[in-house]
Amino acid sequence: MRLQGEVALITGAGRGIGRAIALRFAKEGADIILAGRTQKDLESVAKEVSALGRQALALGCDVTDDRSVRSTVQQGLDRFGKIDSLINNAGYYCDNAPLQDMSDTEWDITLRVNLTGTFQVCRAVVPAMMARRCGAIVMLSSIAAKAAFPFNAPYAVAKAGLLGLTRTLAAETGAYGIRVNALCPGVVVGTEMHTKVNHEVQKMTGTSPEDRVAGARNSVLLQNLTKPEDIAEAALFLSSPASQTITGQSLNVDGGYCYC
Ligand SMILES: NC(=O)c1ccc[n+]([C@@H]2O[C@H](COP(=O)([O-])OP(=O)(O)OC[C@H]3O[C@@H](n4cnc5c(N)ncnc54)[C@H](OP(=O)(O)O)[C@@H]3O)[C@@H](O)[C@H]2O)c1
Repeated sequence: MRLQGEVALITGAGRGIGRAIALRFAKEGADIILAGRTQKDLESVAKEVSALGRQALALGCDVTDDRSVRSTVQQGLDRFGKIDSLINNAGYYCDNAPLQDMSDTEWDITLRVNLTGTFQVCRAVVPAMMARRCGAIVMLSSIAAKAAFPFNAPYAVAKAGLLGLTRTLAAETGAYGIRVNALCPGVVVGTEMHTKVNHEVQKMTGTSPEDRVAGARNSVLLQNLTKPEDIAEAALFLSSPASQTITGQSLNVDGGYCYC
């Protein structure tokens, strides 16, 4: 088991990619701190983690609220005594609009959840990792950080900001044995965000969800679509000793869409 005896804090762990990461990490022997706003989703994943023989702590947490974040991290440390890996997965996909029509509200909330929220969680967790001189942090960025897509400027900016945060934090914490890396998923099917992106693309371009998914499949080298479990596998790699000399990097997990 690759994470035997370890503790992972996963934000946005109640569904989608976060849930898949929680279950994958639990199968590798980690106890899981599940953080998110919807308690019933977290409790449901906690039951699944327990069924795999690991401990789970389901904590209501809004990553945009620093007090909530600090309380979550403290409760996790009180229960388990350490956090070996942090997966910054909580995310929000903006309502799409051309830049000239993008509202302040949509701009602000998208940056607050994806970028400021991740900064706040890292700020709360890093001191405990530094004290133990070890840790792995993974940011859920996106190919939207690297390639050009219209109408989602705040999302692209927030996810690109995460790549800067990844490099800066890697530079600040490397001497403490902490590794910081980012994942850049492409189209990941089967999550609420996937449904929302389909809706937004249809709203802006008239492309149906079916046509968008077929287009996504045809535009990647491997000719298949990425699933939450594929992202979980990559998060496991970046959190485990298998990647012990990798830090400050971003890894595309997109079937070969983004060659930049
Ligand atoms: N699906 C894709 O195609 C895709 C592609 C590239 C990157 N990503 C990234 O991968 C991550 C997971 O995506 P997903 O597809 O699994 O999305 P999802 O199904 O929409 O899940 C998002 C998660 O974030 C949590 N969350 C949202 N706002 C939060 C807040 N303020 N505080 C705490 N938790 C919050 C949600 O839980 P609550 O609402 O209960 O808080 C939920 O668990 C995101 O960062 C996303 O940007 C996804």
